[in-house]
Amino acid sequence: MTTEQARKTAEALTYSTGFGNEHSSEAVPGALPHGRNSPQRAPLGLYAEQLSGSAFTEPRAHNRRSWLYRIRPSAAHPPFTRIDDGTLRGAPFTETVPDPNRLRWNPLPEPAPGTDWLAGLWTLGGNGDVTQRTGMAVHLYHANASMERVFGDSDGELLIVPERGGLLLHTELGLLAAHPGEVVLIPRGVRFRVELLDAASDGGQSPTARGYVCENYGAPFQLPDLGPIGANGLANARDFRAPVAAYEDVEGPVEVVNKYCGHLWSATYGHSPLDVVAWHGNHTPYVYDLRRFNVIGTISYDHPDPSIFTVLTAPSDTPGLAGVDFVVFAPRWLVGEDTFRPPYFHRNVMSEYMGLIEGAYDAKAEGFVPGGGSLHNMMSAHGPDRETFDKASAAELKPQRIDDGLAFMFETRWPVTATPQAANADHLQKGYDDVWQGLERHFRP
Ligand SMILES: [Fe+2]
Repeated sequence: MTTEQARKTAEALTYSTGFGNEHSSEAVPGALPHGRNSPQRAPLGLYAEQLSGSAFTEPRAHNRRSWLYRIRPSAAHPPFTRIDDGTLRGAPFTETVPDPNRLRWNPLPEPAPGTDWLAGLWTLGGNGDVTQRTGMAVHLYHANASMERVFGDSDGELLIVPERGGLLLHTELGLLAAHPGEVVLIPRGVRFRVELLDAASDGGQSPTARGYVCENYGAPFQLPDLGPIGANGLANARDFRAPVAAYEDVEGPVEVVNKYCGHLWSATYGHSPLDVVAWHGNHTPYVYDLRRFNVIGTISYDHPDPSIFTVLTAPSDTPGLAGVDFVVFAPRWLVGEDTFRPPYFHRNVMSEYMGLIEGAYDAKAEGFVPGGGSLHNMMSAHGPDRETFDKASAAELKPQRIDDGLAFMFETRWPVTATPQAANADHLQKGYDDVWQGLERHFRP
């Protein structure tokens, strides 16, 4: 597919909506069996296969599985062999000592020519243990070539946050398009290929793409409970879009890469594994437009903790304590009276990785840029820089619209240990601490 064809395809895509719904879809009429998941002979000569994202026995509200009706069963593949992990790493992260310092990075440098999305994954750090299905990893990506190969992650689900360049994801369950401002959730084990949609903004000839990925090893992301907020608000279930079935009927060599317990394995299939003609279930990819987020905040004084901006939460075994939360700081009005309006000074048992999709963030005057990121680990003190503090402390508190930025946070219950490549990166900012050095003493007893 050419880029132009891909763009047209992306614009014409239709979706099935609703997070966690029992979706169903068939690319060929009659391909989806009715009344049975696994009939003696599946329609149209297809194979029936269940993809289980949860244990069979998990409570109904947490149970994730999809039934796939495909040209060949996934079992029909040759052995996988180890390939180089490149700049991708998996938990446990033990190569460096956990660092209590506040850390901030500039964007990744431009990728080498011919870097596809998978090769462009660059692990910043993480926590937990993939073999225990706990924890998470923070990856960034930069890519200038569409994937020819197909990728699947056995270690966890992937929350992809594009910052530059549109992506067209060819998944087992169909096509998803995502541009900066949208996020994609790929469930554990679902195979996909990433096509780049946009040409380089710098006038370069190669399509370029850049962004962030949260790899969640633990229980899958779900919508947060709303409690007293009520039945609506924050991210609404209906705004999550699942693909409709689309399949590749391709004979010939296709490389399939599997991330398994932190390492990459490869096998060359004799056909495309994206050969699912029909499917139904709730273990499905989604795309979600962050601009649809219903932002809720104060209409009196103070402001709620940033958990009020939670888009998705991945629960841990302790109620209310997330393995990882995905939080967005979206355009909104600030109206709090007698209130220091930017995010307050803070020390947190949770660990916070923040990234910026576009614009600026209201707690930092400079240095936190789109494509970059900051890491404020367990109990590390952070908050507004001096310039922001001075301005916000003296500001006349009229209603104010914040509409020039889209920032997000991966907030996790365990400290994030940086990989050596992140701890020693040229694009790690030196002197990040300085942004808080100018905060003067104002105490006058
Ligand atoms: Fe914080």
